[in-house]
Amino acid sequence: MSVKITALEAENVKRIKAVAFAPSPTGLTLVGGNNNQGKTSVLDALAWALGGERFRPDAAQRDGAVAPAHLKVTLSNGVVVERKGKNASLTVTDPTGRRSGQQLLNAFVEPLALDLPRFMESTDKEKADILLRIIGVGSELQVKDLEIKGLYDKRTFTGQLAAQKKHFAEELISYPEAPDEPVSASDLIRQQQDILARNGENQRKRNQFAQLTDLLERQKKVVADLEFQLSTEKQRLTTMQADVKIAQTSAADLQDESTAELEASIRDIEETNRKVRANLEKARAEDEAAQYASDYDKLTGQIEDKRAERMALLNGADLPLPGLSVEDGVLTYNGKRWRDMSGSDQLRVAAAIVRRLNPDCGFVLLDKLEQMDMTTLQEFSAWLEAEGLQAIATRVSTGSECQIIIEDGMVKGTEPPAEKPQPAPIRKGWTKGAF
Ligand SMILES: Nc1ncnc2c1ncn2[C@@H]1O[C@H](COP(=O)(O)OP(=O)(O)O)[C@@H](O)[C@H]1O
Ligand SMILES: [Mg+2]
Repeated sequence: MSVKITALEAENVKRIKAVAFAPSPTGLTLVGGNNNQGKTSVLDALAWALGGERFRPDAAQRDGAVAPAHLKVTLSNGVVVERKGKNASLTVTDPTGRRSGQQLLNAFVEPLALDLPRFMESTDKEKADILLRIIGVGSELQVKDLEIKGLYDKRTFTGQLAAQKKHFAEELISYPEAPDEPVSASDLIRQQQDILARNGENQRKRNQFAQLTDLLERQKKVVADLEFQLSTEKQRLTTMQADVKIAQTSAADLQDESTAELEASIRDIEETNRKVRANLEKARAEDEAAQYASDYDKLTGQIEDKRAERMALLNGADLPLPGLSVEDGVLTYNGKRWRDMSGSDQLRVAAAIVRRLNPDCGFVLLDKLEQMDMTTLQEFSAWLEAEGLQAIATRVSTGSECQIIIEDGMVKGTEPPAEKPQPAPIRKGWTKGAF
């Protein structure tokens, strides 16, 4: 069972003359009253009694009080806390009657519970850090967040590159009629040389034909001149005629091939290759753009996976209040940031988190609840009761929602305490012998 405040008695603390009351064990106890009557002094007195020296008010003793400040707080675990005497020194008595000290109180008093507004006024990040610390996933979540940020930055960069490459590829001109591969000049030259070689062979045959024709002519002359050698030479003539015929036949249908087309190709080679290179460059740019687009999609997938892991981490944690989360390092409740939460949700979130900081501390103190309307107060009170939590809060109001009204440093409707008669001051140095 968490510790609750069972009763408070305070005298001569700040604005308090004498206040005694027993707050409701769970739910909301509202301390009402007009301005400057001593409401906040009641909470200050409680905080001082339970929180130790660092909660001692600057002017702890009431101005004009004859007796010193006195505080007595009784707790549900049987511990009794008192401050009394000239220095308002602390006495803590445990349930067995043994004297103890602040250390015993520190075990179940959460400092933020004595000053809930301090939590409520902390930054969004501070609230988130407290939550992450108490649910124990702070460092893991931070790693996830850093990983997500890293992937996100990388994806942004990849996306920019993909868009640039796409734009670049679109700007490049292409030539659908150009061949797929660059044309080789040496191939064409080799083809040309082959043709020229064949043409040379043709020429040789043509020359042979011309020579033989020449010989024939000369032979005819020889025949005419040398009639006596006629028979011999006739035989030669016949042979030669046969040879001529063969040569003539093989030369007759010869046709020279043209190299004009190849020459044109050689002339066009530069232009063709320029187009081929342009097409290759465009295709490469398109490939790169597609690669970057695909990388971008992969990174998107990775970011989604990490986010899911992150959510799982939070969902798996034992949260002080269902619906609490941390998004981008900021505390959220049902998806809303602190400033967008309703007043009662803010109170609920603050009380739940502070409670978790020390589950043994069953109470919270809250100053200045006047901005809360009745519905908000009721909702908050009902939640406190359901959680078994006790809240003592002040409010500028003398309405019926307040269980206690403070007026001029006292609980309205009670009598001022009778001043104790003070012992007469002893004159120092007085001796009978003086007379
Ligand atoms: N030690 C003190 N002795 C007498 N009056 C004090 C002392 N400390 C503060 N006050 C006065 O108490 C008043 C505020 O008391 P407080 O408890 O804050 O009232 P409330 O919360 O009801 O407005 C102020 O007028 C302040 O001057
Ligand atoms: Mg006040």
